[in-house]
Amino acid sequence: MSEGRGQWGSRLSFVLAAAGSAVGLGNMWKFPYITGMNGGGAFVLIYLVCILLVGLPIMIGEVLLGRMSQSSVVGTFPKLAGGPTPWAGVGWLGVATGVVILSYYSVVAGWSLHYVYLALTGGLDLGDAEAFGALFGETYSDPTVNLTYHTLFMLITAVIVVGGIQRGVERASRILMPLLLIMMTALLAYATTLDGFGDALDFVFGFHVESITGEAVLEALGHSFFTLSLGMGAMLTYGSYLSKRDDVIAVSVATTAVDTLVALMACLVLFPITFSAGMEASSGPGLVFINMPLAFDGLPGGHAWSVLFFVLLFFAALSSAISLLEVAAAFLIDERGWSRPKAVGLAAGLVFALGIPSALSGDATTMFGATDWIGERNWFDSFDYLASNWMLPLGGLGIAGFAAWRLGDRARRLSFAAGSAIGGIQGVYLAWLQLLRYVVPVAIVVVMLHALGLLEAVFG
Ligand code: PFF
Repeated sequence: MSEGRGQWGSRLSFVLAAAGSAVGLGNMWKFPYITGMNGGGAFVLIYLVCILLVGLPIMIGEVLLGRMSQSSVVGTFPKLAGGPTPWAGVGWLGVATGVVILSYYSVVAGWSLHYVYLALTGGLDLGDAEAFGALFGETYSDPTVNLTYHTLFMLITAVIVVGGIQRGVERASRILMPLLLIMMTALLAYATTLDGFGDALDFVFGFHVESITGEAVLEALGHSFFTLSLGMGAMLTYGSYLSKRDDVIAVSVATTAVDTLVALMACLVLFPITFSAGMEASSGPGLVFINMPLAFDGLPGGHAWSVLFFVLLFFAALSSAISLLEVAAAFLIDERGWSRPKAVGLAAGLVFALGIPSALSGDATTMFGATDWIGERNWFDSFDYLASNWMLPLGGLGIAGFAAWRLGDRARRLSFAAGSAIGGIQGVYLAWLQLLRYVVPVAIVVVMLHALGLLEAVFG
């Protein structure tokens, strides 16, 4: 947009940063536990189909819109529509979604920091499952722990985002992403030596058809948005720092592939350890914070592995948090003309304040811990429910709708082909456009109808 707008130093920088955004708590914490709860293989297969048919087309659409507009998620729609347009609402929704998600994401990320501290100070030297369960319960419900780490995590995130695109975001991703992949590979190599590896392979890749339910299909679809950072303009904002010469299709495919790889690796690390220790795959959200340190505790050098694992989880959360904050910061910089430090300061301050109720949600004696915010959820769960079930799918619907139906075909076709080896092929373009026009909206509407409870009659 403006002369001084940031740009990526190279195409690899974009892929690293975009993959850093995509790979986060969604891959390392949520994907393994929902895979466990949905019976493994069949769920994984459906998730992969969703990534390919819904996630990838939206990823390409978001990055393309960003590169075309060279502006923030709020500026993109009026700019590409040639004037004020109701589609701008999609941009406002995106900024709001980023603020909402980061406010509670920071609290979970804070737990990973706390567990690094515990691992370093011998606090994970507990011995049995019950003690680890109790430790997680204490962590979750302690206001001091949650507020301290929420503050610390937001400060770290803000300092990196203030650094700007080349100095801050890009440099951080260049270090964090490769480090993450190396650490995961090391853990995976270790996992292959465990007795439970064969069972884990069968669990993750064996096609257990009996476990497919309508519910599992819908959950797999919803998770594909969250895990790829789609539906709120994070990928759009990162795409806006690409130049017209960059290959949008290649970088989108690479980002999607890395995210999917890490999610599968997380399962192949977590399940062998879980099975070898004789624990259940379906134990739920506690899988990372209870089962991992418990499993490590019984191993030689277990504490070092715990430190490694939670540092890894923290890095993954940090590079996602950077992209969540960048959406709001880019909006204030591009649309309001603010300096980067001022924009980041305000956005991070708002997120921090909004996160305080989430940090207190584990304490049932506070008003935020009361389970009557939305349905029977406390504040934290209500925010997650609102963002995952409503805001991201709605944003994704808007982004896909704008790219597929509102953009002029000529400009879209030229931009799709620009800088790409395969973008000029008619069949590739048409396949992408048809997916975005029909498959994506139908899939998203199905997710929303399900959330409203209107599909229960069909799926049971
Ligand atoms: N994709 C991140 C994860 O899997 O943890 C979460 C996320 C980041 C969602 C950025 C949305 C977003 F814009």
